[in-house]
Amino acid sequence: MAHLIDGKALAAAISERVAAEAAAFRNAVGRAPGLAVVLVGNDPASEVYVGRKISQCRKVGIISIEHRLSADTPMADLIALIDRLNDDTGIDGILVQLPLPGHVDAGLVLDRIRPDKDVDGFHPVNVGRLSTGTGGLVPCTPLGVMTLLDSVVDDYRGLNAVVIGKSNIVGKPVSMLLLEREATVTVTHIETVDLPAITRRADIVVAAAGAPHLVRGHWIRPGAVVIDVGITRLSGEDGKSRIVGDCATHELDHARAVTPVPGGVGPMTIACLLANTLQAARDSQA
Ligand code: GUN
Repeated sequence: MAHLIDGKALAAAISERVAAEAAAFRNAVGRAPGLAVVLVGNDPASEVYVGRKISQCRKVGIISIEHRLSADTPMADLIALIDRLNDDTGIDGILVQLPLPGHVDAGLVLDRIRPDKDVDGFHPVNVGRLSTGTGGLVPCTPLGVMTLLDSVVDDYRGLNAVVIGKSNIVGKPVSMLLLEREATVTVTHIETVDLPAITRRADIVVAAAGAPHLVRGHWIRPGAVVIDVGITRLSGEDGKSRIVGDCATHELDHARAVTPVPGGVGPMTIACLLANTLQAARDSQA
């Protein structure tokens, strides 16, 4: 049986550290770290994610201020809100939940966030810093993926890492972080030919395709480490829905370690958001 990497436990440890450091920040600075969360429209999944982010902030002593805007909010109003939050000295982090409604140019909105308050790490300045290995705020899910990997991998040098998916939110930043650790990185995507032949050579597989049970047992070589970033809600024949990942985990007994879904990457994303908000708060005092 492959070792299951416990994302809930690792996330709880990060949250505990953030709580202690947020309290120290409050004592030193006279205010708690502050996160603004902007939700435009009422996408049901986004509502759930935003609700979780806010309740976790509360638990660790980060002030979170939610800005809920209707789906038809004009672009100019959204930009004006970002500008206000950029100038607000009580706000250390700004998070605009994606996806945004169709009429909103997400690129323009994300570019407007001050890079030092960009706790999602999506601003081009932070993307550039990540790709040049020069600091900055790192996107939360990739940071979570690397923390999960670090719990079982000591030395990445020379390992073959295969990333499935080339999204800006996960695939590309994870590949940069793996490169930084001197793994040999292959990024694959929907047009990749013979993906199983590529994953079979991998010591590390990060599956972020959003395709339920894409990665089968025979895709993975014995002893590999598999991180499953997928979260797809499927409705079962009994009418109940369940969350499944990108990997057929029940076929991966020969792997060295795998992350479960749920309970793997998901909790880490929120814990890393808390850590990024604390980092932004501290950096604002430097
Ligand atoms: N939507 C899906 N993932 C994310 C994320 O990491 N950050 C934001 N802001 N929106 C998302």
